[in-house]
Amino acid sequence: MSVHFLAFLSILAFSSGGVLATCGYKGCPATVPGMLNVHLVPHTHDDVGWLKTVDQYYYGDKNKIQNAGVQYILDTVIAELVEDPAKRFIYVEIAFFSRWWNEQTDKTKALVKQLVNEGRLEFVNGGWCMNDEASTHYNAIIDQMTVGLRFLKENFGDCGKPLTAWQIDPFGHSREYASLVAQMGFDSLYFARLDYLDKAERIKTHTMERVWHASPSLGKTADLFFGALYYHYGPPPGFCYDVYCADPPIMDDPNLFDYNVDERVAEFVRLAQGQNDVYGTNHIMFTMGSDFQYSNAPMWYKNLDKLIKYVNAKQNETKVHALYSTPSCYTYNLNKVPKRWSIKNDDFFPYADEPHAFWTGYFTSRPGLKGYVRETNNFLQVCKQLEVWGSFLPNLKLQTNSNILRKFMGVAQHHDAVSGTEKQNVSDDYAERLSIGRAECKELVSDVLGKLVQKNSSVPSPQFVFCDYLNISVCPLTVNNKQFTITAYNPIARQVTTVVRIPVTSNYSITGPSGKPVTTQLQDVSEGTKQVRRNRGSAPKELLFQVTLPPLGFQTYIAEASQGGVKARRHSQSQTEAFKPNADTTIENQFLSLTFDGSTGLLKSMTDKKSQKSTSVRQSFYWYTSSMGDLKSSQKSGAYIFRPLIQTPTDLFNGTSVGLTVIKGPVATEVRQQFQPWLSQVIRLYNNREFAEFEWTVGPIPIKDRVGKEIITRFDTDLQTNSTFYTDANGRQILQRIRDHRFDWQYNNTEPVSGNYYPINSRAFITDDKMQMTVMTDRSQGGSSMKDGSLEIMIHRRTLGDDHRGVGEPLNETGQFGDGLIVRGQHFVLFTSVDKAAAAHRLLGEELYMAPSLSFSQWVPDWATKFNTMKSMVSRSLPSNVHLLTLESWTNGNILIRAENQFAIDEDPVLSQKVKFQLKGLFEPFVITNLEEMTLSANEPLADEKRLQWNVTDSPSPTPPAVKPVPVPPSTLTVSLNPMEIRTFIATVKQAKN
Ligand SMILES: *[C@@H]1O[C@H](CO)[C@@H](O)[C@H](O)[C@H]1NC(C)=O
Ligand SMILES: *[C@@H]1O[C@H](CO)[C@@H](O)[C@H](O)[C@H]1NC(C)=O
Ligand SMILES: [Zn+2]
Repeated sequence: MSVHFLAFLSILAFSSGGVLATCGYKGCPATVPGMLNVHLVPHTHDDVGWLKTVDQYYYGDKNKIQNAGVQYILDTVIAELVEDPAKRFIYVEIAFFSRWWNEQTDKTKALVKQLVNEGRLEFVNGGWCMNDEASTHYNAIIDQMTVGLRFLKENFGDCGKPLTAWQIDPFGHSREYASLVAQMGFDSLYFARLDYLDKAERIKTHTMERVWHASPSLGKTADLFFGALYYHYGPPPGFCYDVYCADPPIMDDPNLFDYNVDERVAEFVRLAQGQNDVYGTNHIMFTMGSDFQYSNAPMWYKNLDKLIKYVNAKQNETKVHALYSTPSCYTYNLNKVPKRWSIKNDDFFPYADEPHAFWTGYFTSRPGLKGYVRETNNFLQVCKQLEVWGSFLPNLKLQTNSNILRKFMGVAQHHDAVSGTEKQNVSDDYAERLSIGRAECKELVSDVLGKLVQKNSSVPSPQFVFCDYLNISVCPLTVNNKQFTITAYNPIARQVTTVVRIPVTSNYSITGPSGKPVTTQLQDVSEGTKQVRRNRGSAPKELLFQVTLPPLGFQTYIAEASQGGVKARRHSQSQTEAFKPNADTTIENQFLSLTFDGSTGLLKSMTDKKSQKSTSVRQSFYWYTSSMGDLKSSQKSGAYIFRPLIQTPTDLFNGTSVGLTVIKGPVATEVRQQFQPWLSQVIRLYNNREFAEFEWTVGPIPIKDRVGKEIITRFDTDLQTNSTFYTDANGRQILQRIRDHRFDWQYNNTEPVSGNYYPINSRAFITDDKMQMTVMTDRSQGGSSMKDGSLEIMIHRRTLGDDHRGVGEPLNETGQFGDGLIVRGQHFVLFTSVDKAAAAHRLLGEELYMAPSLSFSQWVPDWATKFNTMKSMVSRSLPSNVHLLTLESWTNGNILIRAENQFAIDEDPVLSQKVKFQLKGLFEPFVITNLEEMTLSANEPLADEKRLQWNVTDSPSPTPPAVKPVPVPPSTLTVSLNPMEIRTFIATVKQAKN
C-alpha cells in the first residue's frame, strides 16, 4: 500500500527534465524520532579570491601560497556522490561552480543534474559569491545573488533553487542582508561569526537559533530563521578527515593495535550530546568541512561512512543517530519541532572574536577599492539600462554585453574582496577585472548612445569616451580640444540636477541642449588636485556648470573655447572670486550657511536656513596610531581588526591654520583647506543643493616613524545626542546605535573606540530630536560617535602589522606611485530639522549611488541640428519615493524590472506612505504585454513561493503583519509599494510603434 502511494507521488514529482525530482525538502533523508539526529553536512568553503586570485584558486595554481584547487574539489566530490545515493554535499559559490560546469561533458552534466534532482548535491546561498555583509551595497548584493541564482535556475530548474542562505565566513551580519534573503524566498540563514560574548550568552540561554525580525517596515515578510553554528564552520574537534587535517581516521580492523572505533564513537556521541545540550531539540548539525576542503573527497567520505555506520550501530544504547544531510534538511526538521523560537531585532555588528579583537578595521580597509566598487555599481546600472534601450534600436548590433561586468561585480562583493581583507595582488586583480568589465560596458554605452542621438542614419554616429579620472581633473578630450560635447545620462526615473566639473586649459562657453547658454564657473585646479594627479594631467583650470537631466535620459552640452570679447559676454561668463580671509567667513546657499574661523580656517558653525537653527561644529581630521600589540594583548591593528594604541586620536590640524582659500562663483562656493602636506579638503556649497560637500584627499599616510595610522574625519557639534547615533545597513535600513551598549547581550568595554565602530555603508547621523546632522558617504567606511554631538568616520588606514586572521600581510597599500595610496572621497553633509531629514538623505542617497554618467565626444559641426541633444526613455517621472532599482535584459527578450519604495516606515510624513505608479505606457521603446511577479532574486514566481512558517515567542513589541503585495491589474499595470518594499517583475515586451 505505502509503496504504491510513494510511486504515485514520484510520478507527480518529475522535474522539467523528466528526471525524478526529490530535491528540496522532499529529498531529505529520514531522521529517527526519539533520538538525537546528527546532521552531517559535508561542505567546502571556497573563497573567490583571498590569498590567491579567483583563477589561481580554481586551478590550484600558486599552491605555495595556499594549497587549494577548486576544480579538484568538484571533480572528486561528484565522483563520490555518483557512487552512493546516501551521500550529500552542498555547494555555495557559483562563480566557481559555473566554470567547472562549463568544462564538463554532456554525460557528466546529466549525472550532476540527476544528483541535484535527487537532493544529493544541494546548492546553498547560490550567489555568484558569499558576499560580505558590512561593506556591500544592497543593489550589488541583489545583483550578485541574481547572477548566481539565474545560472542555477537555467541549468537545474526548480531543483537548483537554494533554500538556505549560508554566510559561514563573513565577519558580522547585517539585518538588511537578512531582510533581502527573506525576500528572495530563503527559509534559513546560517553563520559562524558572532561576537564571542554574544555567543557565550546564546549558549547559556539556548538561543543559538532564533527568528530574525529583519525589517520593521516589512514585518513578517522579512522574518528569517537563523542559526549560529557551534564549531565555527568546521567539524567538531577530532573529526576532520581532509588532506589538510591530522585527526585520526576511523581504524576499524579489530586485529590492529590502533583500532579506535569504540573510542571515536564515544567521543562523537559525547560531542553531539554536548552540542545538543545547547541547541535543545533532537537535531544538531555538524559542518563536516572547511576552507577548500574535499579536494580528495574519498578521504572525507570513507571516514564519514564508517563513522555513521559505527555510531548508528550503537544507537539503541546512545540514542544518537548520524546521517548525511544538508542545512535545508536540518532546517526542515527543526521547523517540525514543536518549539517557540525567540526573536532577534538588531544586527550582528561589530564582530569581536577576542576582547581586543574587534573586526571593525575592514569597514574602511582598502578605501580605493571600496570606492571603485561603489562607482562601478553605478556604471553597471547605466550599462544594463542602455543594453535594454539598445535592444529596441533598429540597425544596432551590440558587439558586447553587460555580463562580464555583472560577473566581475559579483566576485567583487565577496567577503575578501570589497571587504579589503585580501592580499595586495589579489586586490589588484579584482580592480583589473572591474576595469575590464567597465571597458566592455563603455563600448556598449557608446554604441547605444551613438544610436540614441542619431536623427538620420546617413549621419554617422559619434563615438563617446569616458573620463575615469574626472575626480582628479584629468580628461584628455576636454583638455586637448577647442570644441567638444558632454553627454550626461541619468539612470534615475525622475529629473535630477547635478554639477559637471571638467578640466580645461582655458575658458569655454557651454551651450545647453535647447541651444541656450549655460552659466559656468571657471576656477583654478586646487593644489590638492595637482598633488594627487601628479604626472597624469596638467589642466590648470576646471569648468563647472549645473545640469538638470530628464528621467532615464540624457542631455548633450556643447563646449566651445571662448575667444573672449563678444562671445564670452553673450554666454554670461561668470566672475569667480578667490581670496584668503583674515576674519570669520561665511559661505552660504539657499539651504545652508557655513562659518569658518578667521584665524584657524576650520569650520565653526552651520545653520539650516529653513529652520534658522544653528549648531557649532568643528570639523577636523585625526589619526589613531595602529597598535602593534601591548601588555594587554598581542593583537595588532590590521586589514580586519582596528585596534588603536591610544584611545584618543591625534588632531591633524597643525595648530596654526589650514590656510583657508575661498572661491566664490555662480555655480558653487568652495573653501580649500590644507591640514598637512598630505591631507587637504575642499568644502563646497552648490547653488540650490541641500548638502555641503566635503571632499578630502588623504595620503600617502606618513610611516617614516614606522607607525601605522588610521585617519578619521570628525564633526563635533553641540547637539545633545544622549550616547545615540545611527548608521545604515547596506545603503538601506537605518539602525540605532548606543555607545558602549549592545541591545541583545551584556557588553564589556575592552576596546573603547574600536568596539563602538559600526559599518557605514551610505550614511550615519546624529540628532537631538529637533535637528539632525547626516553624513552621506561615497563608499563604505567605519565610524562612531565617541562623545555626544560628535560623529567620526574612518576614511583611510595604513598599518604595518598583520592582525593574524590569515591574510598574512600588513594593510600597507603603496599605490600606483609606490609611496603610499592617496585616496580622495566625499562626504555630503545635511543639516535639517528632523522631520525633513529622511526626505533629504533618502533622495540624496539615491542620487549619489545612481549618479549621472558623463561621456564626451569630439565636436562634429552642426551637432545640435544633426543629433538629438536630449531624450528621455520614459513618458513621465516616477514619484520621488519610488526607486527604479533594476532594468536589465533577461532571458528570451524579456526585461527584469525592480521597483522599490526607498523610504522606511514612519520616516517621513508623506514619502513613507504607500505609493503607486503605473508601468503601462511608461517606457518609450517598448510595450509590456505580460508581467510576472517574481521573488526578489527573480528565480521563482512569487505566486509559487512557499516559505516555512515559524512559531515565535511573544516579543515585547508585536511584529507588524506581513506586507502582502497588491496584485498588479493588467489594464493599468499599477504597482503599489509599501515602505521598503521591493517588487520584482519579469516583463514580456514588444517594440513600441513610434
Ligand atoms: C535496536 O533495537 C531494535 C528494537 O528493540 C532492534 O530491533 C534492533 O535490532 C536493535 N539494533 C541493534 C543494532 O541492536
Ligand atoms: C600649518 O599649515 C598652514 C597651511 O598649510 C601653513 O601655512 C602653516 O605654516 C602651518 N603651520 C605649522 C606650524 O606647521
Ligand atoms: Zn571565506
